[in-house]
Amino acid sequence: MTPHLRLGVNIDHVATIRNARGGDHPDPWRAVQVVEAAGGDGITVHLREDRRHIRDGDLDTLMANTTLPINLEMAATEEMLAIALRHKPHAACIVPEKREERTTEGGLDAAGLHNQLAPMVTRLTDAGIRVSLFIEPDARQIDAAIQLRAPVVELHTGRYAHCEGEERATELRRIADAAALAARNGIEPHAGHGLTFDNVGPIAAIPQIAELNIGHFLIGEAIFIGLDASIREMRARMDAARG
Ligand code: PXP
Repeated sequence: MTPHLRLGVNIDHVATIRNARGGDHPDPWRAVQVVEAAGGDGITVHLREDRRHIRDGDLDTLMANTTLPINLEMAATEEMLAIALRHKPHAACIVPEKREERTTEGGLDAAGLHNQLAPMVTRLTDAGIRVSLFIEPDARQIDAAIQLRAPVVELHTGRYAHCEGEERATELRRIADAAALAARNGIEPHAGHGLTFDNVGPIAAIPQIAELNIGHFLIGEAIFIGLDASIREMRARMDAARG
């Protein structure tokens, strides 16, 4: 079992609120300082093609000032590759991206996109960036990640988060099986999307999973209890589930 389950806090939606008014408040950098103080293990940001969350300047500030590892979520485009290579974050998580979507819907088709992804994974890896592929929890996608020599996969928990009952139990088994398969093949499994105080436990209890990346719920909950308390409560629930 991975001893410490890391919590990566996705601060995109601090930027979403700021961008709604076009000014400087709330400042994502201030959120990073709260994450540091609350014991978050990393910062996740998605620099989208349309810059609807963080902007290039936010990434500059982050890279220059935080000591926490940064996980840059990025589409598999030449523009994002150039940005990642310039900044050299700790990790880059390749995600599918469609302009019209509200959030990342579904995982990357790592199997179908092998030829497009292979040179990108190599160039990021050669630059010392830990590559992660955001994929659906299924064996075909894990096999593709093995072929691509990705050191990390992030398993999409969106479907798990949005269903109930027997369907959720089935989805949880799929995630647990995918995490075990990844780990058996030397790939570190992470997970994320749609995780909340109420649904994080069973995912956190999957022993092979080394990191969770959580954003929307933490920022939303921060409206009511503050960001520090929101992160600490999530951390406590993850630790309780991990035993
Ligand atoms: N992981 C990845 C790859 C994502 O794209 C997102 C959403 O940006 C998250 C985790 C976090 O999801 P949520 O905001 O629903 O917690």
